Amino acid sequence: MAKHLNGRLLAARYEASLRASIAQHRASAGCPPPGLAVVRVGDDPASGVYVRKKAQACGRVGIESRMVHHVAVASQQEVLESIHQLNADPSCDGILVQLPVPSTLDARQLLLAVDPAKDVDGLHPLNLGRLVRGEPGLRSCTPAGVMALLAHGGIAPEGMRALVIGRSVLVGQPMGILLQQANATVTVAHSRTRDLSDHCRQAELLVVAAGQPGLVGADRVRPGAVVVDVGIHRVPPRQQGERAALCGDVCFAAVEPLASHITPVPGGVGPMTVAMLLCNTVQAWRQRCGGGAPRPAETDCLH
Ligand code: GUN
Repeated sequence: MAKHLNGRLLAARYEASLRASIAQHRASAGCPPPGLAVVRVGDDPASGVYVRKKAQACGRVGIESRMVHHVAVASQQEVLESIHQLNADPSCDGILVQLPVPSTLDARQLLLAVDPAKDVDGLHPLNLGRLVRGEPGLRSCTPAGVMALLAHGGIAPEGMRALVIGRSVLVGQPMGILLQQANATVTVAHSRTRDLSDHCRQAELLVVAAGQPGLVGADRVRPGAVVVDVGIHRVPPRQQGERAALCGDVCFAAVEPLASHITPVPGGVGPMTVAMLLCNTVQAWRQRCGGGAPRPAETDCLH
């Protein structure tokens, strides 16, 4: 039976560490509290859940969060104007543009408008470039969260055959780069990959970020593999009165007996994404308010 990589527990440890670090730094350097602004456009219900979770987590550690919520029909110019205002606002250390934005907007241009020093999602081209070059910078939260889960689970990617399924700029691409920098041998599979099952069965470390419920079943997992599930999907209730359940891109029940380690959904990668957002916000805050040291390790802000 696989060991569970418990993101909820680890995220709680990160929160405790950040809470202490914020309190200490505020006391010693006399800084105002860190501030995070979430820019949301429209009413995508899944985004609503994510944004609420982020705000609650900020509250628990002492980050002041605010939401700038635009209607779905907002213009590119209106959203850009909000971002410019937040860039200039000294009480705002981190800015996150919640994705997806309506298809009428140009998400790339919005992400480009965020001050790279406040880009706590790590999606500005400057921070993505720093990632590729292995230079310090703000890192994308989900891939950083996966690296932290692996590290704290005692899993060293060095020398492992790793397969990342999905090539999004948000997850798959930075994930592949971070694993490569941790000396794994990385393959990135995507919707046009031939013989996906063969690639999967070779992988000693499998990170699934395809956005397809149940894509990876037992037939696609090498016995003893480490399986990380980035997917999260709502399964409609089968009967009236039942609550909707959540599932990932991996068939958990079928894969768990085979894998050496597995992330549950919910409670695996999701809480770590939020924890890394908090880490990035505190990192940006410390750099702006009196030169805090950068994070000790690539993805680790437990200190
Ligand atoms: N939508 C789903 N996950 C994320 C995330 O990590 N960051 C942003 N900005 N949008 C998301």
